[in-house]
Amino acid sequence: MSATEQISIRVEPTKTSRLSQVDFNNLKFGQIMSDHMLVANYENGQWTDVAIVPYGDLTLSPSMSALHYGQAIFEGIKGYKFADGTVSIFRPDKNWERFNKSAARLQMPEVPEEIFMDGLTKLLDVDREWIPSIEGTALYIRPFMFATEAALGVHPSISYKFIIITCPVGAYYSKPISLKVETHYTRAAEGGVGFSKNAGNYALSLYPTQLANNEGYDQIMWTDANEHKYIEEAGTANLIFRIGDTIITPHGDTILHGVTRRTIMELAEEWGYKAEQRKVSVQELIDGIKAGTVTEAFAAGTAATITHIDRIGFEGQDYTLPPVEGREFSLKVLSYLNDLRYGKSEDTHGWNLIV
Ligand code: COI
Repeated sequence: MSATEQISIRVEPTKTSRLSQVDFNNLKFGQIMSDHMLVANYENGQWTDVAIVPYGDLTLSPSMSALHYGQAIFEGIKGYKFADGTVSIFRPDKNWERFNKSAARLQMPEVPEEIFMDGLTKLLDVDREWIPSIEGTALYIRPFMFATEAALGVHPSISYKFIIITCPVGAYYSKPISLKVETHYTRAAEGGVGFSKNAGNYALSLYPTQLANNEGYDQIMWTDANEHKYIEEAGTANLIFRIGDTIITPHGDTILHGVTRRTIMELAEEWGYKAEQRKVSVQELIDGIKAGTVTEAFAAGTAATITHIDRIGFEGQDYTLPPVEGREFSLKVLSYLNDLRYGKSEDTHGWNLIV
């Protein structure tokens, strides 16, 4: 018998909903959490106590290993509400797959489908009133897992918590962003953990990002660890460029394999663009901007959706991208995804999981 066969999800509804405190017309990213969360514990090689409970604080040991050695991973997914009240989640199976890849790399247990996928649909069903329906808004879903063993020896923890919290959100970036090409600090090296969505990848970005902010840029454009010549990704999202008629995104295991990135590249191919996942050098990008062949550049991610890039700083020089109004491909993707996510068009790919 597998460790997961008998998993059932208990539901303990809140007695005091906070829903009435939410201003759905003025949502900031990630500040107000929905009424419930899903919690599961991993102990003695088994997942146990899977429950949807009122959102609230946890009691944890100060010697818990995630706090010291960083076994902590997460995902970002979005749920949407159609005009008729139908609730849908965008491609969560892809996040589940990626979550378990991150878990394997950090020597953490896999989270089975019965907990991740069923837990997430049940949680959204319980908190369906929290899912906003105004275009540009969504319910952001944050599954995460961390090591809970109270021990200071460096070894894989014997216990873990898997939790899903959610929050109604507006845009992560409300306007186009500027990026500074980072040629000193490194996000990820070959053989490292760049492809995994672990907490440490975000912690290490904070200091160099602050330096970029001090210079007037919104975010960093990471480059490869060996030569700082090839583009990897932006601070909180993947990068996609249109050079001539080709849609290009950097590839490799030093970058996060984003679900939004994958979706956009699939659409590019389907719509007859040349779509390439390959190395893109900073020089190729700069030369293309100067020559006018780079017509679009954007960050793609669950939180970021599609965020246009308007300026790139490299070696003390700024390079300005063409105006957003003329960005045919990214604007077409945005409107296609909007229609799909809010149920205004037919889901021909089967990307919406209806709750
Ligand atoms: C997401 O796009 O879901 C992310 O995880 C980025 C986040 C760090 C805001």
